[in-house]
Amino acid sequence: MKQWWKEATVYEIYVRSFKDSTGDGLGDIGGIISKLGYLKKLGVDVIWLTPIYESPEADNGYDISNYLRISPKFGTMKMFDRLLKETHKRGMRLIMDGVFNHTSDEHSWFLESKKSRTNKYRDYYFWRNGQKDREPNNWVSFFGGSVWEYDKDTRQYYLHIFSKKQPDLNWDNKAVREEIYAIMKWWLDKGIDGFRFDVINFISKTRSLRDANPSRGKKYADGSKYYKNGPNINKYLKEMNMRVLSKYDIMTVGETAANIEDINATRLYVDSRRHELNMVFHENNEIHSDKKTAEIATLLDKRHDKFKWTLPNLKRTITAWQEGLGDYCWDTAYLGNHDYPRIVSRFGDDKKYRTESAKMLATLIFTLRGTPFIYQGDEIGMTNGDFKSINDYVDIGAINMYNEYLSRHKNGRAYALKILRKISRDNARTPMQWDDSRNAGFSKRKPWIKVNSNYRTVNVEAALKDKNSIFYYYKKLIEIRKGSNTMMYGKYRQVLDKHPDIFAYTRSLGSEKILVLLNFKGKATKFKQHRDVLLNGAELIIGNYPESENKYELRPYEAAVYVICSRHS
Ligand code: GLC
Repeated sequence: MKQWWKEATVYEIYVRSFKDSTGDGLGDIGGIISKLGYLKKLGVDVIWLTPIYESPEADNGYDISNYLRISPKFGTMKMFDRLLKETHKRGMRLIMDGVFNHTSDEHSWFLESKKSRTNKYRDYYFWRNGQKDREPNNWVSFFGGSVWEYDKDTRQYYLHIFSKKQPDLNWDNKAVREEIYAIMKWWLDKGIDGFRFDVINFISKTRSLRDANPSRGKKYADGSKYYKNGPNINKYLKEMNMRVLSKYDIMTVGETAANIEDINATRLYVDSRRHELNMVFHENNEIHSDKKTAEIATLLDKRHDKFKWTLPNLKRTITAWQEGLGDYCWDTAYLGNHDYPRIVSRFGDDKKYRTESAKMLATLIFTLRGTPFIYQGDEIGMTNGDFKSINDYVDIGAINMYNEYLSRHKNGRAYALKILRKISRDNARTPMQWDDSRNAGFSKRKPWIKVNSNYRTVNVEAALKDKNSIFYYYKKLIEIRKGSNTMMYGKYRQVLDKHPDIFAYTRSLGSEKILVLLNFKGKATKFKQHRDVLLNGAELIIGNYPESENKYELRPYEAAVYVICSRHS
C-alpha cells in the first residue's frame, strides 16, 4: 500500500555536528533552522534529529535525564517550536530520536530508584544481587566491561547494556510503559511527525538474566540472546502502537541490531498487518560486524581484520533482506549513520574516486526497496575523520576500547590508533563542512570535535557551485525516485549474482523494469550479456558517468540505472 513515509527521503541530522549558531563550538537548533533551505534544496522530506533532550552527555545525548526538556546546549523549547514550524512551513517533516531502552543515571526516576530497595521507582530498572564475588551475570556491555554496576548504598547491582551512565529501563513494569507512552504523546501532540526508536529490540529482557556462554579467555560474554528480540517485545510494541502511535499520521523507524539470522523476528516488527512499527534499521552483516568490532571492543588481538567487508557478502546480505521481508513488510535503505565510519571511506574510495564512488553508493541507497536515509555530509562525500592522537577522539566507545586494549598490550598504541581510524564512530561525527572558511563554516569557535582537514575542497559551498557535484547527483536521485513507482515499490531481484565486483539488480512493477548496475571496483569491469541484462534499447535514467558506447563494461565505480522494459514500449 502506498504511504507517504515509504516515498519520503529522510535526512539524519547529528545535531552537535551540523551547524553552530551561538559560537560555542557545538551544533544547535538555531543552526538547523538556518540550514532548512539547504535541506529543502536537496529535496529532503523528513529530518531525523539525534537526541536534543536534557542529558549529561555521557553518550552524546543517548543518555537522557529529562525527556520533556531541551538541553540548553542546543537551545530552548521555544526554539524547538520554531524549528518545527519552519520545517512544516517548507513542506518537510521532523522526527525525533526516542531513546526508551535506557535513561541517564541522572534521570529523576533513577535517582529515586537508587535511594533504597523499597523505593517506588526501584522496579523501574533492573536491580539484582551479585553472585559470590561477582556480578549477577557475565554479560559484556556494548562499551566494554560488565553490564552491571555496583551500588554501595543499597548493595545491589543495576543493569546497563550500554555505559554505566545508561541504566536499562524495566519495560515489564507497566508503570514504566505508561510513563513512556505519556512522553511520546506529549511530543506527538506538539506536532512532531514520528520517532526513530533507539535500540528498540532490546527493551524486553528474559526474566532469568542468566549467564551467556563465555568466550575463551574472556571474562565477559555477549549476552544479547537474552535481551535481543526478547519474550515480550511484540506485545509491548503492539501496545505502544495501539495506545499511542496509531492515533497519529506518523513515521516510525526502529533501530534493531538485527542481522540476517533475525529476519523472522524482524518481519514481525514491520509486517503492516500486525501494527507494530513502519520499518526498522537492521544491519547488513558486514556493517554489523564492524559495529560489533567497534562497540564490543573486538579490536582485541588483531581480530579486526576478520571483519573486513566484501562485496559478495554485502550482495548476499542486502539481497536476503530485500527478498526476504516480503510484500507486507517495509524496509529502510541506508549504508551509514552516526554509529559507523563514513560510507565513502568504507565501501568506496575516499581519494582518487571519491566523487564517483560516493555517487555510486548513493545510487545503491536510492534504488533499493525501502525508505532512503541520508546521513549528514554523505551528500557532499565527506570522508572519515583524520584523527592523529587518542586525544582527538570523544566517543566513549572509542576511548574505552583504546584503554582496554592498552591495558593488555602495553605497546599496542599505534595499532589501536590504526584500527580506531578505520572503525571509530567519531569518523562520521566530525563537523559538517559548509565552506572553506575557518572551522569549515561550522562554528566561529573551536568545534567540540576536530574538523576534517579536507574541508577546503570538500564542502557544501563548493558542491553547490559545481553542477556535477555529489550534491546534485543526490538531488537528482531523490527526484527520480519520487517520480517512479517502480523505484519506490517495484519488486527487487538480483542479477549477475556471481559477479565479484558488480552489484546488479532489477526493480519491476507491472511491465516496467529498471536495471541497476554498480561497479564496486576502482577499475573498468566487464560483464556478460545475459537475458536479464539486455541493454539494447535500454534508456539510461541516471548514472555517474556520461553514457558509454560499451554498455557491457563499467568504468571505475560506475553506477548506471536503465529502464530496460517500459510500459510504453
Ligand atoms: C544507538 C545509538 C548510539 C547509542 C546507542 C545507545 O545504537 O545510535 O549512538 O550509543 O544506541 O543509546
